[in-house]
Amino acid sequence: MTMKFSEEFVWGTATSSFQIEGAYQEDHRSESIWDRFCTQKGTIADGSDGSTACDHYHLWPQDIALMRSIGVRSYRFSVAWPRILPAGTGKPNEAGLAFYERLVDELLEADIQPMVTLYHWDLPQSLQDRGGWPHRDTAKAFVEYAHIVSRRLGDRVGYWVTHNEPWCIATLGHLTGDHAPGIKSAPEMLATAHHVLLSHGWAVPVIRSETSNTKVGIVVNLTPTYPASPSDYDAEAARSLDGRFNRWYLDPLYKGKYPEDIVREYQTQGDLPPTGLAFVKEGDMKAISIKTDFLGINYYFRAIVRSEKIPDEKNLPREIPVPSPENCTDMGWEVYPDGLRKILMRVHHDYAPPAIYITENGCAYAAGPDSNDHIKDTQRIQYIESHIRSVHKAITEGAPVMGYYLWSLMDNFEWAFGYTKRFGMVWVDFTTQRRILKASAQRYTEIIRENAIGDDSNIS
Ligand code: FCB
Repeated sequence: MTMKFSEEFVWGTATSSFQIEGAYQEDHRSESIWDRFCTQKGTIADGSDGSTACDHYHLWPQDIALMRSIGVRSYRFSVAWPRILPAGTGKPNEAGLAFYERLVDELLEADIQPMVTLYHWDLPQSLQDRGGWPHRDTAKAFVEYAHIVSRRLGDRVGYWVTHNEPWCIATLGHLTGDHAPGIKSAPEMLATAHHVLLSHGWAVPVIRSETSNTKVGIVVNLTPTYPASPSDYDAEAARSLDGRFNRWYLDPLYKGKYPEDIVREYQTQGDLPPTGLAFVKEGDMKAISIKTDFLGINYYFRAIVRSEKIPDEKNLPREIPVPSPENCTDMGWEVYPDGLRKILMRVHHDYAPPAIYITENGCAYAAGPDSNDHIKDTQRIQYIESHIRSVHKAITEGAPVMGYYLWSLMDNFEWAFGYTKRFGMVWVDFTTQRRILKASAQRYTEIIRENAIGDDSNIS
């Protein structure tokens, strides 16, 4: 049995500016919050930074050639705001715009459709110094930035993404402090989430005014939640996590309101200021829930949720075992392909976006070159195949999934993990900048060429 995809299905791959570009001080690029964060002790696992990364700023023609040889039809990349507006706002930097213009033109020349993400976490430090995302003015600055980029590239770019993963921006950047700018404050997390969503809502019509025939959307990272047992305690904990992780973003975008159960929880825990959701101003929710052309979903793993409130934990039956280390990637993330089908069906039923793209899905495994420069990343091949099957099942069940972007084109700077986690289908030697296709890239080529994948019974 073969699982066939529609002729229009988009096979792509994804990267982001800070993770691959390097050239951090070139052509008037200014400092971003990630450059600053990397200088702080203990923030990055291997003490590294993004100053060189994959040197894509210089090697981009070679990277496009790689994509062409793999056969991808679309490339999702992000624009570095500090290259476009070194001061955050004000005067655009021609060299920065010209870089992305060349990239887009060459992609089109190679018959690869660009999907442009405007914000994949590298805020200009100058805007952070003025308050960053917890501050409403940053949302206004984003619209100005979105306008400049879409005016320049709008005639050529078919897909626009405002933001990548608002949950990560808000939670990892402003609550846990694991990501730049390293803030640890619940009220600032909530204000950030709101201003990121608001800036999305404000930017959509602006991007549309500068583009024709293009599709505009936002990318969220979603995690399907599974209660660890049938107990009410675990069901309750799963509801809460789902609310904080998924509904806090999807409800405003598709229903124009924050989920009431979670608002109450934040209030009870004192995570909201006494004034409550005071950062929500008249008209904000209407702006945020503006209709978009697609939803981008990034999927990596599910969450098995256990309540912390269970009085005598040991005596309660646990239905779902903790994932074994053998079933986890190098990130410690469980490999659970059916979670992707589940979250797709849930989004389809509860929010009904007109189109969905899997804008990221992939895995970290260390597999590197043998003495013949062959890279047999069998685990990645299995991961990709099983998740693509899961996408196909969701399509069969009615979810409007229009494309799949593998994370990532090449090994790169994996945020707080530095260069210690390799997500690429292309190996990168970070000393020489040599690139080598892994076996997974060759497998991806076949899947794209056949526009199909064998079902589970075909796995050897
Ligand atoms: C996602 C990010 C992406 C990459 C992958 C592994 O959350 O969007 O940049 O780091 O995780």
